[in-house]
Amino acid sequence: MSESIPGYTYGSSGTAASPVDTEELAQLKATVMFTGDDEQALRTAGDVLEDQVDDVLDVWYGFVADHPHLVAYFSTPGGEPIQEYLDRVRPRFSQWILDTCRRPYDRTWLDHQEEIAQRHTHEKKNTTDGADSVDNIPLRYIIAFIYPITATMRDFLGKKGHSAEQVEAMHQAWFKAVTLNVALWARPYVRDGDW
Ligand code: HEM
Repeated sequence: MSESIPGYTYGSSGTAASPVDTEELAQLKATVMFTGDDEQALRTAGDVLEDQVDDVLDVWYGFVADHPHLVAYFSTPGGEPIQEYLDRVRPRFSQWILDTCRRPYDRTWLDHQEEIAQRHTHEKKNTTDGADSVDNIPLRYIIAFIYPITATMRDFLGKKGHSAEQVEAMHQAWFKAVTLNVALWARPYVRDGDW
């Protein structure tokens, strides 16, 4: 399915290369307390979420839609929401949920994180979809979004009959993974040498 998503370029040549090395990634994982148990919990979460990603996206898009200061980043500089842009990004967002749960966090994954990071910034925002939108999302919102992206996931993780303990493990692993993503996505926003 993923190959047919417009603008989804995981593992493709010609996309961003991350300057982050494997040791830096290992240290970052250690900093968010990400372990092999979290990797396992995320694999389970991938199975739990697979047929729910559309419902998750309804919640997240609903959250954005309820906040004009967030819809602004899917809108023209004049403030008119661009439905085609919202629609085109959505399946890539869904795929990201499954990638976060299932992909090995290796070089290809790191490069893809850099690509997603740049797509939120002046470097590449709008280019994938040819959107006539504002060209940067402030870092503060990327960081603040960790909370809703994490908090809203718990109910979905609990919908397939797992024990409270398993749901908690999946939720914690998800929280760590999102924090790890956002730490990597901060890179293009930060002054050289300060990341
Ligand atoms: C794109 C996730 C924060 C607006 C994306 C994509 C993902 C994603 C997975 C698709 C990447 C791709 O092209 O494959 C996240 C996560 C966030 C976050 C996990 C924080 C935890 C935000 C915030 C906004 C935002 C705060 C502001 C409303 C957008 C927009 C795009 C996008 C406009 C399309 C960018 C483009 O032109 O390519 N995001 N995002 N995101 N996100 Fe975010």
